[in-house]
Amino acid sequence: MPERKKKKRKNKLLNLSNKELKALQKTVHCYPGATDSWSVFLHKALLSKDPRAHTMADPWQTAYDFAVQVARAAGAVIRKAGEEEIKIQTKSSAVDLVTKTDERVEKIIIGSLKEQFGDGTHCFIGEESVSKGEACILTDKPTWIIDPVDGTTNFVHGFPFVAVSIAFAVNKQLEFGVVYSCLEDKMYKARRGQGAFCDDEQIQVSDVKDINKSIIISEHGTDRSIEKVTKIFSTMQKILRIPVHGLRGSGTAATNMCLVASGAVEAFFEIGIHCWDIAAGAVIVQEAGGLILDVDGGPFDLMSRRMMSANNDVIARRIIKEIEIFPVVRDDAPVQKK
Ligand code: IPD
Repeated sequence: MPERKKKKRKNKLLNLSNKELKALQKTVHCYPGATDSWSVFLHKALLSKDPRAHTMADPWQTAYDFAVQVARAAGAVIRKAGEEEIKIQTKSSAVDLVTKTDERVEKIIIGSLKEQFGDGTHCFIGEESVSKGEACILTDKPTWIIDPVDGTTNFVHGFPFVAVSIAFAVNKQLEFGVVYSCLEDKMYKARRGQGAFCDDEQIQVSDVKDINKSIIISEHGTDRSIEKVTKIFSTMQKILRIPVHGLRGSGTAATNMCLVASGAVEAFFEIGIHCWDIAAGAVIVQEAGGLILDVDGGPFDLMSRRMMSANNDVIARRIIKEIEIFPVVRDDAPVQKK
């Protein structure tokens, strides 16, 4: 019988034989959390001498680019949903609102991320999943931290600031943050060490050091106990009387932080926010030249539900002097059994 010649099968995407592909896979080892398609992308980039081959040194660039696309798509869903009738439910209090859109958009975001990076090495912390009982623990694993609709109350009322917030941390360090202010159609993003951008224009915090020339943002959150409301308004009163030029609040923590990053205001602080509200914004503020601290001036702790973001240390420390701190339960506190 004539010997049948083995047909060499080529990988369609890369135009490489299996042997060649295997050899490449050995040289370009898989990055933590890389899926096949991601490795293929890297191989392709390397082979074609594509400038994106720098992802070799920066393994999370593809994840970053993907997060931007997902945030934009999620924002389009939110905009469309805003044109329809919105059914409201409540969570921790009568003013802590949630809608079907929050749940749907979170499913879309986490679903798309899992399709790309869902090989079991990535973790996901999403506002709505946590409110349904999923753990909110930050480990060293690559972790996505997601607020599908930041500014749900705004969304319900048609107040024009609603954001999709997606952050990514590895070894508990925030690697990048994406905030899509979807009603304004503004895409804020920052990758650690690479600057902060709004619609591809680099942004920077303001250089104001004189507190009397500043605008400060604070929010009152969703806890309406008399003790907390009293402390929050007492703090605001003291800040107003410094005096500052003004106090503001957009109703979304993620957008507030982008306003600090782009120099529209000097600082934003809040006690009672959650990690998903501020994770992406934290990278954006820092990459825009600002700083993130605890509200007592100590180091920032993402799970503490306390955050001060400011253009510089002088402004931050002056505001911190006035903040009346009240206790909050950490995001990663063990869930109390009912
Ligand atoms: C809220 C917003 C608001 C802040 C609240 C958050 P949500 O997020 O970020 O600005 O004051 O503390 O809970 O519930 O609309 O995603």
